[in-house]
Amino acid sequence: SSSFPTGKSAQEKGLSYVPGCYVVPASQRSNLTSETTNVPVVDLSGLHDPKERSRVIKDIGSACLRLGFFQIINHGICQSLLDGALSSAFQFFDLPMEERLKLKSTDVFKPVRYATSLKDGLEKVQFWRIFLKHYAHPLKDWIESWPKNPANYRENMGKYAVELRKLALELTGAITESLGIGPAYLDNKMEEGMQVMAANCYPACPQPELALGLPPHSDYSCLTILLQSSQGLEIMDADDGTWLAVPKLEGALEVHLGDHLQVLSNGLYKSVVHRATLNGERTRISVASFHSLGMDEKMETAEELVDEQHPKGYKASSFRDFLKFLSANNIGEGQSFIETL
Ligand code: SIN
Ligand code: FE2
Repeated sequence: SSSFPTGKSAQEKGLSYVPGCYVVPASQRSNLTSETTNVPVVDLSGLHDPKERSRVIKDIGSACLRLGFFQIINHGICQSLLDGALSSAFQFFDLPMEERLKLKSTDVFKPVRYATSLKDGLEKVQFWRIFLKHYAHPLKDWIESWPKNPANYRENMGKYAVELRKLALELTGAITESLGIGPAYLDNKMEEGMQVMAANCYPACPQPELALGLPPHSDYSCLTILLQSSQGLEIMDADDGTWLAVPKLEGALEVHLGDHLQVLSNGLYKSVVHRATLNGERTRISVASFHSLGMDEKMETAEELVDEQHPKGYKASSFRDFLKFLSANNIGEGQSFIETL
């Protein structure tokens, strides 16, 4: 249609087949047919109740140990904020291509950028995703550079970002508590830390079984909190390499442990490897919020978790180290970055 005159990506051409560059090798395709039921769901309602907190910490700890992943319910973020964030993201991806392209960049250091494909043509296999990424904390420093359109984007995404950051800091405290190093272990560094948000759009795909929205990867951050419009996220159980489809639970959010918590915990907790699958009928949207230490603050392994039986296994690294790695290797995100000693 005339609303996409230039730069229209293959994802939006209304094709009846998947072009060869999106076809992933058979061994890497998703073949999950049924919904998985054993993905941990943690009820956060007891987090602030002295009588209940230890049970919640225990639930979080066992999910972190098993998968580095859990869904959360009763997290305190009201449904209207979740709906607002998803709705603004949907509206953004509905804008004419030329409007979105104003924010296009392949420079991973840009605080606000739009991109049409994970590796932007640099790799053989492309992924069926378009996304908008932007820094979010401190909000006042960044919100003016967020999209002006749709008109509700800044307000909806801004309110959501602020609430999500509070939740991320509480969850980080709960996770360090579950590691036995106390709820305040990362407080100061997380207070000074970064929040980056990514709105992802996975257009309906004519042959969803042949392609992926995002390849398997772990996130660089400490913690990622994901909001999804419909099912599509899959996580790997590192014990046996099997994939689990994360069900869409109304009102729930998904928590991913990132590489930096693997480093902090000296590998006791692993960052979760995950991928995004596609749907034949409908476009899926997800909004990911990445929470990490400051740009140049290196995440170090907690000395409390190092001893003769558990020698320090990881090199300390910062967010900037990760971005330098992406940019030096000319790759998009969706890359794991963890350096062992
Ligand atoms: C991500 O890995 O950042 C997003 C995954 C998803 O959209 O489900
Ligand atoms: Fe991810």
